Amino acid sequence: MKQIIRTALVMSIGLMSTQCNTAQQPTTAQQTETVEPTQTPTARASSTADPRMRQFVDSLLSQMTLEEKIGQLNLVSVGFDVTGPVVSQNVDENIRKGNVGGVFNTYTPVAARKLQEFAVNNTRLKIPLLFGYDVIHGHRTIFPIPLGLSASWDLEAIERSARIAADEASADGLNWVYSPMVDIARDPRWGRISEGAGEDPYLGSEIARAMVRGYQGDDLTKENTVMATVKHFALYGASEAGRDYNTVDMSLNRMFNEYMPPYKAAIEAGVGSVMSSFNDINGVPATGNHWLMTELLRDKWGFDGFVVADYTAVSEMIAHGMGDEAKVGELALSAGVDMDMVSEVYLRHVKQSVDKGSLSEEVVNTAARRILEAKYKLGLFEDPYRYTNDQRAKTTIMKPEYREASRDIARRSMVLLKNSKQTLPLKKSGTIALIGPLANNQRDLIGNWSGAGDWKQAVSVEQGIKNVAGNGVKINYAKGANITDDEQMIKRLNAHGGELQLDKRTSEQMIAEAVKVARASDVIVAVVGESQGMSGEAASRADIGLPGKQRELLMALKKTGKPLVVVLMNGRPLALPWEDQNADAILETWFAGTEAGNAIADVLFGNYNPSGKLTATFPQMVGQIPLYYAHRNTGRPFNGDLLNKYTTRYMDVTNEPLYPFGFGLSYTSFTYSKPQLSKTSISPSENLEVSVQVQNTGNYDGEEVVQLYVQDVVASITRPVKELKGFQKINLKKGESRTVTFTITPEHLKFYNNELDFVLEPGEFKVYVGTNSRDVQEASFTVTQ
Ligand code: NOJ
Repeated sequence: MKQIIRTALVMSIGLMSTQCNTAQQPTTAQQTETVEPTQTPTARASSTADPRMRQFVDSLLSQMTLEEKIGQLNLVSVGFDVTGPVVSQNVDENIRKGNVGGVFNTYTPVAARKLQEFAVNNTRLKIPLLFGYDVIHGHRTIFPIPLGLSASWDLEAIERSARIAADEASADGLNWVYSPMVDIARDPRWGRISEGAGEDPYLGSEIARAMVRGYQGDDLTKENTVMATVKHFALYGASEAGRDYNTVDMSLNRMFNEYMPPYKAAIEAGVGSVMSSFNDINGVPATGNHWLMTELLRDKWGFDGFVVADYTAVSEMIAHGMGDEAKVGELALSAGVDMDMVSEVYLRHVKQSVDKGSLSEEVVNTAARRILEAKYKLGLFEDPYRYTNDQRAKTTIMKPEYREASRDIARRSMVLLKNSKQTLPLKKSGTIALIGPLANNQRDLIGNWSGAGDWKQAVSVEQGIKNVAGNGVKINYAKGANITDDEQMIKRLNAHGGELQLDKRTSEQMIAEAVKVARASDVIVAVVGESQGMSGEAASRADIGLPGKQRELLMALKKTGKPLVVVLMNGRPLALPWEDQNADAILETWFAGTEAGNAIADVLFGNYNPSGKLTATFPQMVGQIPLYYAHRNTGRPFNGDLLNKYTTRYMDVTNEPLYPFGFGLSYTSFTYSKPQLSKTSISPSENLEVSVQVQNTGNYDGEEVVQLYVQDVVASITRPVKELKGFQKINLKKGESRTVTFTITPEHLKFYNNELDFVLEPGEFKVYVGTNSRDVQEASFTVTQ
């Protein structure tokens, strides 16, 4: 009970600090007797785990001037990948003066070595720089976008992708990556849903751990590991109306049960750094939020790495209405944000703030200590050039095994959404009408957050089909439509790395050509979707259907009567009711990376039997958003009776998604037995086993993601109708059957109650097992008092 009260109080202090967490009053929490033992960042050393590190950093800090310490807190962008309106100036000069702790956007061993030499040779204390970069889903060898990776439900494959990314990035001069992005997202209008693992906290947490392991390995000083950054802390995925950078406002109950778990999982996995988010929380921007960055992150969760602000997020607090530059700098630093990305507010103001007494020097010392510790953990003091080995770059980057891994992981991420009359897999003979603006495209395949990836290395679908199907298949190609005809949109996309060329023919002409090609072929493969820049940062869309004239194209193709296979490329769930009704087969391929075309062809021709499952719900239409499987029941649930007016529903569309969370088909079929429980009643400290017999009843070997959901039927707060608590991806030969067993532990049954205590409340629980979140069979058990 004590624990409960304390947490709740800390939370209210978080609200108070909006008004009074300034440097003059840096210890709001301490002033409130009831909250113990809350500390300001000044009161705490970031790590005491390694005494040698502590001694080293103590000694270094004691030699540093205040200016040099502030310099360590400054992160500048040197290079071409700009993700905000401001660009770092006078970098050489600032490095020489000791005003820079790290750079990002510089890579290649040669460039990084040059800059590192400059820093080490020209500064008084020869402190090496951190080299950060947005390595998001691969570095040079690009894997599927994170939403796609998550759809593999294959933790080993996801970890492998991060491991390869780390190997390439560290060979390319980098020691710090801005991944994993673990923001739970339930609004597909938000373009950044593409960068995360979808809507579910359990799956998101498992993936967060796998990625941290993949990047950091077991020893950060190794030359092939990099420090990871969990982002965007916190709740960025809940931006109101799906508009990027927008306000976030949510209950604590939802925050802790649904949005916080993946960040916490990354912290528990030992992630080295955390990036703040752009949004506010309880009215305080995350970047200036002491409750979030210190009381929760460090005091409660025990994080001992450093926090970096997102791009200019410190100075953006001026626009949030938090004060002038000096004030927002004080706010961010005293909140516990150690490093200022690009805005240089710390550089310009922190010394004066300390001199005039509005910020304690101890706050600066603590932040500088954390940055120096990160450098120590990476082994940079031992060898500043550890990550700049030119030879290793040559033998590591884009080596054939890595391309092969990318192809394998890409196949695993694809989701078969429809396959009537066994249209897929295709025969490796006959004539294919290959149609659509993404059919022979390379640029879009690697997604929009593929930093150092080279799209010219990407394999197009056309090329992939040739590689996989060989000469037996004749391809007739027609573009059929532009991705979009909106010239403004094209201009904007091309200004940020797009390669869109507007075909100036009328859409009627393009469609007519495609129809002609289709008529002369046995089957249509229409490759349609978004351009890469239509998802990702600053790429929210209010209409999430196929852009441009692509649906018209599909409608015309449908009229030919030829089998219509739709291959989708997109960075978010789309609303595709017509496509679902009318296509014979639909394969969701996301933006699948360097080997996209080969991987897509592997699936289309049955060299690989698709096994991906959606990790974000596909709505029927945008007005249903937010739509997610783990919703709560209302007092008036819809029971299927259309004439019953007073239930929770729309007049013009059902509550059902187009495709539910966890959904994905296979070329084979699987049948499930009813779940069997080891007991029907357990004590609150006991485990329970749930077993189900799964059989491959179709004509192909295949993989299936067996999913386990739990529902707490009666609780002190409303609970979701079901929540994922386990999954296993199994491989079954044709005809084979296997018993899959899950262990439900007390942890799986707990939740944060309204006092924010993590509790298991005895009573009735239901267990659901099945092939997706909708098609499940249930059993129930009781937890006794
Ligand atoms: C802004 C983005 O929000 C963040 O994800 C990224 O890591 C930084 N820019 C650095 O490029």
